[in-house]
Amino acid sequence: MNPLARELNETLSGSVMHELLSPYGRRFYFPKGIITQAAEAKEHAHRFDATVGLAVKNREPLHLQEIASHFSGLSAGELFSYAPTPGDPKLRNRWGDEMLRKNPSLKGRTTSLPLVVPGLTAGISILSDLFFDVGDELIVPDMFWGNYRLIFEGRKQAALKRFPFFYGDGFNLNGMEQALRESAATGRTSENNPKAALVLNFPNNPTGYSPTEQEAAEICRRLVALAEEGVRLLVICDDAYFGLFYEENTYTQSLFAELANAHPNLLVVKVDGATKEDFVWGFRLGFVTFGCGGASAAQYQAMEKKLGGAVRAAVSNSSRPAQSLLLKALETPGYEQEKQAAFELLRERYRAVRRILEERTLPEGIRALPFNSGYFMAFELDGGGAENLRRKLLHERGIGTISIEDRYLRVAFSGVDLEHIEELYSEIVAAMEELA
Ligand SMILES: Cc1ncc(COP(=O)(O)O)c(C=O)c1O
Repeated sequence: MNPLARELNETLSGSVMHELLSPYGRRFYFPKGIITQAAEAKEHAHRFDATVGLAVKNREPLHLQEIASHFSGLSAGELFSYAPTPGDPKLRNRWGDEMLRKNPSLKGRTTSLPLVVPGLTAGISILSDLFFDVGDELIVPDMFWGNYRLIFEGRKQAALKRFPFFYGDGFNLNGMEQALRESAATGRTSENNPKAALVLNFPNNPTGYSPTEQEAAEICRRLVALAEEGVRLLVICDDAYFGLFYEENTYTQSLFAELANAHPNLLVVKVDGATKEDFVWGFRLGFVTFGCGGASAAQYQAMEKKLGGAVRAAVSNSSRPAQSLLLKALETPGYEQEKQAAFELLRERYRAVRRILEERTLPEGIRALPFNSGYFMAFELDGGGAENLRRKLLHERGIGTISIEDRYLRVAFSGVDLEHIEELYSEIVAAMEELA
């Protein structure tokens, strides 16, 4: 094993973070090659910097005016240079401060510094490398973002174990706990302790559901109880749609805030980012942050180094212009106000959907699943036929929706202006009636 990896593993040794790492995770380290030498040169090379593969003219990255002219307010360095592999340090700190502001329960808890990744997908994918090996299980509610399948099953040959998302009109707490217990009955860490891994995505894609205050507290209580019983737990919070909570009694923080430092047997990882939160889908900008009971600053840094090494190995680093633009926005007074306006615009659409569904009667055997947040809502068709319905909507009415496993129809009301929401749902209900 590389001596740098060995050093990191020694720092981590005795912690659940070390115990949960996959063989890949154990092997990983941040190399002292070009990246580290270039960072040293940034500080000490006061004459010439001939380290990285980047062209310079008059101490600025050499660049083409035809490209630069489409941006304003960013220097050539902010636009064209490489960002450090773990991300722009200013942005990392700022995102960490924002996380604390958005999640007051984090106060007094320790976490790693958010590390920049090129979008949430990359973050989840890199975590799958660090923590999953062939045959490992990942517990997911049965309504989940389909890309988890490609990431965990396709790339890692891990096994997704599903439990029903809903129990009645709420989150299926017993189902989640039972699935974790079943997985822990056979899953073993390298130290032969029971282990289980869970991914939670709220606001959820595809249902648009987020837990109530009581459900959130109960999810956390049950996870901590399992950790207390000795199960080594990895919980990934996929917070892609964070902040879009539309109802009063919805839990409005990330579960990461409650779970970070909750127990030494519990490692929680927050994957979030600007993609949906800041409406910059194509920028490819996400963050990964660790929280673990009893972890020291040195251990968090060791995890950041392993994660940084995995980023370096996969994509080298994330988009510099995207990071510079987000940092500028976060430092601009109008940013919060504009974000609030965007939130209200989406909430109005949500409210319109709710109102329409309250007024309409759906054909027998079809129901709208509970939803209270995010971009989506979904219909469940007891007898199946969601794919037929999707095709009918598309080919006869020119309306695009997503069918899932022929049982669910996902509607992204986020993608349709308020004045067309009524028409959209009238058409959907009419198509359902024609097929009934
Ligand atoms: C639940 C969930 N997680 C992650 C992502 C991916 O985010 P990104 O575009 O930043 O990779 C999506 C995008 O659709 C999503 O719905």
